[in-house]
Amino acid sequence: MSEPSELQGKHIVLGLTGGIACYKSAEFVRLLTKAGATVQVVMTEAAASFITPVTMQALSGRPVVTSQWDAREPNNMAHINLGREADAIVLAPASADFIARLVQGRADELLSLTCLARPRERCPLLVAPAMNREMWSHPATQRNVAQLQVDGAVILGPGCGDQACGEVGDGRMLEPAELLEDLIAFFQPKVLAGKRLLITAGPTFEPIDPVRGITNHSSGKMGFAIARAAREAGAEVTLVAGPVHQPTPRGVRRQNVMTAQQMFDAVVPQAQQHDVFIATAAVADWRPANSAEHKIKKEGGKDVPTFELTENPDILAAVAGLSDAPYCVGFAAESERLLEHARAKMLRKRIPLIVGNLGPATFGRDDNALLLIDATSDRALPPDGGRADKLTLARALMQDIAQRLQAVNP
Ligand code: CTP
Repeated sequence: MSEPSELQGKHIVLGLTGGIACYKSAEFVRLLTKAGATVQVVMTEAAASFITPVTMQALSGRPVVTSQWDAREPNNMAHINLGREADAIVLAPASADFIARLVQGRADELLSLTCLARPRERCPLLVAPAMNREMWSHPATQRNVAQLQVDGAVILGPGCGDQACGEVGDGRMLEPAELLEDLIAFFQPKVLAGKRLLITAGPTFEPIDPVRGITNHSSGKMGFAIARAAREAGAEVTLVAGPVHQPTPRGVRRQNVMTAQQMFDAVVPQAQQHDVFIATAAVADWRPANSAEHKIKKEGGKDVPTFELTENPDILAAVAGLSDAPYCVGFAAESERLLEHARAKMLRKRIPLIVGNLGPATFGRDDNALLLIDATSDRALPPDGGRADKLTLARALMQDIAQRLQAVNP
């Protein structure tokens, strides 16, 4: 769901150190440049044993720098220039040895020298460790990583899984797409730091029998974009999702459910432990009163089956009615008279904010147009009244909600 321009205008120094995960760095450079970043690759001597500077130059479109004695720099100070030009230095892969060197402030080759010489207040250092699981869990490495964080570095991962050595465990470098998502998130303003958000997303599925059911066209895209944007903004996020085919945003806790009742049971008991509840799910209003235990067979000559429906619990209204309720945000998918219908819904459910959108113009689409409605005002997103991709809208919505929380609880 990343937009091609997510890193437009950003200049990234990508440092490679010795590790088999260097093969992933090739793909990472491609993703960075596709996202609009310019990339300057710096490699240690050990990194060049795993992947050639030729490959990295071809993919980044810039000569790779490997030595502090590189005479191409007019002032012959590559280690100074690199850090002054960069919006961030990303080390991927970062070996155990290189992390130890950073902790000691070593400066006897170009990459560690560049990290040491960077202006720390405006050039952050992000480190993606890559090593065998025993090396990762060793107290020396854990001590070094903790110290690196104290010194201001951000650690990306590592991941868990199969390792090049044949073992399985923690220490793998994150996949290129995961690194990209983390880097994009890093650059977002942390307007929801310390907040806990609970979000529902997707449709629900109400079974008629073991193979059939009642559902709707909700794709979950808006709710998943909100979960991602909330996480990017620094919040702790729980996402309760109906049956959808959406990847879980990085760092988001996801609980899958099928029916409205299951969604209710997953949400209500934990609602009070959250600061904000955003109900984007398209919850089925009704369910079959009796779901058949076995598949209903079409037997020749028999009557067409009929179903009695019963009403599902209203999750949003239930959460809004709790004592010590979180700040509740509803969604209203209407087909006409958006402002009027949505505000009526807001008052009926006793919530402070509702986000209106036109149902047929949002289901399954990557873009949308929102109307933020409270008791006294309404405001379009995007502000020009046009359309925008759902992640952009979700980020703007998070900014808006952060301001409202600030106003309620300064
Ligand atoms: N919602 C919910 N639980 C339900 C039904 C709805 O939490 N059982 C939430 C939705 O996630 C959404 C908001 O309530 O945030 C609006 O739901 P909607 O179904 O549009 O409201 P209704 O009151 O059913 O209105 P309508 O007459 O349009 O169906």
